[in-house]
Amino acid sequence: MKNTYDVAIVGGGINGASIAYQLSKLGRKVIIIEKGELACQSSSAAAGMLAAQAELEQDGPLFQLALKSQAMFSSLSEELFEATGIDIELTYNGMLKIAETEEIAEEVKKQVIYQRKWDPAIKWLDANEIRELEPALSLNVAGGMYLPNDGNVQPTKLSKAFAKAALDFGAEIREYTEVLSFLFEKGQVTGVKTTHGIIHCGQVVVAAGAWAAELMRGSGLNLSMYPVKGECFSIKTEKPIINTTIFSDKRCYFVPKRNGEIYIGATMVEHSFDATVTPGGIAELTARAVHIIPSISNAAVMRVWSGIRPQTGDGLPYIGEHPNWKGLFIAAGHFRNGILLSPITGILTAKLMEGKLNKDPFLSAFRLDRHKEMIF
Ligand code: FAD
Ligand code: GLY
Repeated sequence: MKNTYDVAIVGGGINGASIAYQLSKLGRKVIIIEKGELACQSSSAAAGMLAAQAELEQDGPLFQLALKSQAMFSSLSEELFEATGIDIELTYNGMLKIAETEEIAEEVKKQVIYQRKWDPAIKWLDANEIRELEPALSLNVAGGMYLPNDGNVQPTKLSKAFAKAALDFGAEIREYTEVLSFLFEKGQVTGVKTTHGIIHCGQVVVAAGAWAAELMRGSGLNLSMYPVKGECFSIKTEKPIINTTIFSDKRCYFVPKRNGEIYIGATMVEHSFDATVTPGGIAELTARAVHIIPSISNAAVMRVWSGIRPQTGDGLPYIGEHPNWKGLFIAAGHFRNGILLSPITGILTAKLMEGKLNKDPFLSAFRLDRHKEMIF
C-alpha cells in the first residue's frame, strides 16, 4: 500500500538520521518526516564537540552513554565515508578546559584526578604550560585540564552522512512535511497524520528535538522538556591562532574547524523557541571570548547563527517506548550533547524498536515514564 512503512521517524535532525541509518541497515522500511529541511535546526547549529568529559562532570547514566558514544566516532567516520563518500571531518585536536581563577583551578584539578579514571592521558597544565601549548590564551588563564584525545566533527556533514547512508539502504525522506498527530488502534500506533496526508506504519519514533514534548502531549504524555537557545559566531584569522578546542565554561568555547574557521559559542537562553540572533547575545559572547583570547578582536567575523537545544527537567534524554501505546518511541532531549550522543542513540533506539533491549537496566534512566506524573 502507498504511504505504508515499517517505521516513521518524526524529525530529520542528527538523531532522526542516525536512527534511520541503523533501522534501514537492519532491513526495515523507513521514512523520515521533517517539517523543514534535513538538519535545519539544532543539528546544524552545533559546534560538533565530542566533549563527554568537559561537558559532563559527574559519573552516571548520561556520562556512561556519552563515553560509549564518543568511542564510536573513529570507526563510524570510516564506515560513513565508505558508505557515502562524506567526510564528517572528525579531528582529534584535543581540548583544554581552562580555569580563569585560582578558585576554579582547584575545581578543575579535582576533575583532572577524577577524569583520569577514564583516560589516563588527561592532565593538568599550569599557567606556563598552557600558554606554551596555546600562546594566544590571555594571561588571566591560571591553567587547565588537557584532554589530548578529545575531538570534534562537522555536525551538518554527520547528519547528512547518516541520512545518505540510510537512503542507500532504501529509506525515504519527506521534507517540508510536519507531523501533526498520531493514529492509534487497539493500544498500538498505526501511523501519523501530516500536513501532506496520512502515513501508515507499524512503529513511530519521535526524534523531534525541542519540539518533541508538544507532539507527545497528544499521546497523553507530559514530558518535562524546555528549549534553550544558543547563539554563536565564527571567525577567521590570517594564520591559525589556536589548534586545540578551548572550553572555558558552558557559555564560552572555541572550536577550530578544518576550513580555518573558529566556532565561538554559545549563549544559553532558557525557554526560548525564538532563534533570533541578538546583538545582546553576541555582545555577551564576544566579551567573554576576547577576555580569554584577546587577539580575536582583530579577526574577521564570518557568520552568526543560533540553535534551540532540547533540555529535559532532569537533564537526561528520553529514549524509550510510550508506556501506553505500543510501537510509539521517542529519542529526544539531548540538550548540549546531541552530536556526541547521536551514534549510540541510533543504535540503542533501533535495538529497542527491534525488541532487543526491553529489560536493559542501562536504559531505565532514560525511560519516558521515569516520573509517574508525566502520564495523564
Ligand atoms: P534537532 O536537530 O532539533 O532536530 C529535530 C528535527 O525535528 C528538526 O529538524 C525539526 O524541524 C524536526 N521537527 C520538529 N517537530 C516536527 C514535526 N512535528 N514534524 C516533522 N518534523 C519535526 N551537541 C554536541 O554534542 N556537541 C556540541 O558541540 C554541541 N554544540 C551546540 C551548540 C549550539 C549553539 C547548540 C544550539 C547545540 C549544540 N549541541 C551540541 C547540541 C546538539 O546540537 C543537539 O543536542 C542535537 O542537535 C539535537 O539533535 P536532534 O536530532 O535530537 O534535534
Ligand atoms: N555543547 C555546546 C553547546 O551546547 O553550546
